[in-house]
Amino acid sequence: MKRLTIDYSNVLGFISNDEIIDCGRRASFALDKLKTKTGVGSEFTGWIDYPLFINFSDILEIEKTKEKIVKESKCLLVVGIGGSYLGSKALIEALNNYNDDGFCIKYIGNNMSSEYITSILDSLEEIDFSVNVISKSGKTLEAALGFELVLDLLKFKYKEKYNERVYITTTKDSSLLYREGVKNNYKIFTIPKDIGGRYSVLTIAGLLPIACAGFDIKELLEGAIEARSYFLNEDFNNNEALIYATLRNLLYNKGKKLEFFVTFEPNLSYLGEWWKQLFAESEGKERKGIFPVTTVYSTDLHSIGQYVQDGERIMFETFLNVEKSKNNLIISRDKEQLDELYYLNGLSVNNIQDNVLEGVIKAHKDGGVPCIIINLRSINEHNFGYLVYFYMLSCAVSGYMLGVNPFNQDGVEAYKKNVHELLNN
Ligand code: PA5
Repeated sequence: MKRLTIDYSNVLGFISNDEIIDCGRRASFALDKLKTKTGVGSEFTGWIDYPLFINFSDILEIEKTKEKIVKESKCLLVVGIGGSYLGSKALIEALNNYNDDGFCIKYIGNNMSSEYITSILDSLEEIDFSVNVISKSGKTLEAALGFELVLDLLKFKYKEKYNERVYITTTKDSSLLYREGVKNNYKIFTIPKDIGGRYSVLTIAGLLPIACAGFDIKELLEGAIEARSYFLNEDFNNNEALIYATLRNLLYNKGKKLEFFVTFEPNLSYLGEWWKQLFAESEGKERKGIFPVTTVYSTDLHSIGQYVQDGERIMFETFLNVEKSKNNLIISRDKEQLDELYYLNGLSVNNIQDNVLEGVIKAHKDGGVPCIIINLRSINEHNFGYLVYFYMLSCAVSGYMLGVNPFNQDGVEAYKKNVHELLNN
């Protein structure tokens, strides 16, 4: 049985099978450009083969570091923004099952809220903690600010031994953070230069926090390796990464400018955030690109559901449908309670969710919203590795089909330049 399948029956009617086959050729062509490194931005496609290159000694080094961190600390504070934290947070939230016990991972460096940063730093005062500062460029303002602020607490708590608790993840040599790391004797891990932030979840940027949270990074990488060998080699009809990219491009060209990532699982909302960054930064350029929106249903059915059903017809939805959990709650109502809710008696929450999914897709499709369904067998480390590889490859193919460089993000620089000027005045 396949780990991941795509159901696009609810897209037909908006686009035809002939269009899919025709456009699919462009997807296969884009994949070839990626594989042969002949497309624009190919100097940043190191992520395609990277899972194959991580060897036993790299894993051992990460595991050894994790053992040290977990032994000395009750919490790992991850300092970073964008691709430097979203991937690890997505996996940790997805697999943590809402469990806050035990070793914790906290995050700063992803916002400018003194309220937020203070509350995180306060929470670390009474417990032992270590810090993983992650920044590929080594100069991102939010991460630099977060690191500066936590350094005071580290020095206060651990005196001259504070540096033994600092782990730097950055690019070798060129990065300011790298030089700081060498100067202060922090433990340094390096992100390969040919892998951009939003494609870096399977590098040390994601692996160290994920390992510290207690998850199996070997399985994660195995999942990515399996996806790599499948999606790089299968032809269009069997290749979900190419099919997804094709459907997106066809729908975009029919005026569907927004894509809604839909999950029914609140613990997948950070996977949605990771997906949003991946696609927005890869495709939104040259006045082009699908605008990615993340939603958790059924919560959001009671807010934006109205707009999706009846507002402007500018969107399509991509449901990430994960095989249901074993925790299947059953509703039982007394016979005496022969009230309006008695029809729920004996049903399970999973069963009701399946019906909501079906009902929503039918209503939205009838209302003019094409719906793609990505079915994932279950969420575990292996399948997560498989899924993120699928998304990254599909995104890169989709970017090439759109005619943009999926690996740069010059647009983000404009605001940074303004901030720099304002702060230096
Ligand atoms: O995808 C990217 O490259 C960016 O979104 C980065 O992840 C983000 O800007 C953080 O950059 P850095 O890791 O250099 O601090």
